[in-house]
Amino acid sequence: LNAVEFDHDMEGKKVMVSAGPTEEPLDPVRIITNHSSGKMGYALARVAAKRGAKVTLVSGPVNLETPLNVERVNITTANDMYEEITKRAGDQDIIIMAAAVADYTPETVAENKIKKKEGGMSIPLKRTHDILKTLGENKKDGQFICGFSMETENLLENSSAKLEKKNADMICANSLTVPGAGYKVDTNIITLIKKVEGSDKPVMRELPLMSKDEAAFEILSEIIGR
Ligand code: CTP
Ligand code: CA
Repeated sequence: LNAVEFDHDMEGKKVMVSAGPTEEPLDPVRIITNHSSGKMGYALARVAAKRGAKVTLVSGPVNLETPLNVERVNITTANDMYEEITKRAGDQDIIIMAAAVADYTPETVAENKIKKKEGGMSIPLKRTHDILKTLGENKKDGQFICGFSMETENLLENSSAKLEKKNADMICANSLTVPGAGYKVDTNIITLIKKVEGSDKPVMRELPLMSKDEAAFEILSEIIGR
């Protein structure tokens, strides 16, 4: 991203980004989690900070270095992420949910390691809080709420539905089925689906294949209207 001039066009903006997976414990040795490298969220935090924003990064367990000039808050479970994000949300100008948050968590966490028995087993799960939906429902005046959407089918249709349902301002839709996109690689192919004030039809803008840093730059530019 060296070719891009950072002219501090996000100076004075408070930005909170979530990144990485959550881990839901089942017992002291087992978790339920999602695939997520955290790279897209970290790229957003890094690029926003380079553009002069005051950035808070709420991160699940990932193997990445904290970007320069970013305040990082580590969390493990979806509930931890919900707590850390909701308590800081009122202060933010822009919130971007790039984390792969678990939709379900075990109803109970066993105190001791669960021993195997004959036959199969099933695990009772309960829903976690939908953080993005909570943010959308409590949106402050002038605040911009952005989510991500990962799908394996009906990408644009399902992602547009999320924009509506969660009262978000933009959804960055990622297909998992095209080469060059997804959680494993350093590149992404994203379609930005943005709400239009006073219309129920969003605008869509498909970004070409690009690095996650470049995608972060484009996403932030779209948000600040440049
Ligand atoms: N998200 C969230 N809290 C959750 C689950 C998801 O804030 N408990 C956020 C994600 O960070 C992402 C957006 O919601 O920004 C969409 O996540 P996704 O998993 O694609 O959609 P869901 O609404 O969870 O629906 P489903 O998994 O059934 O497709
Ligand atoms: Ca989900």
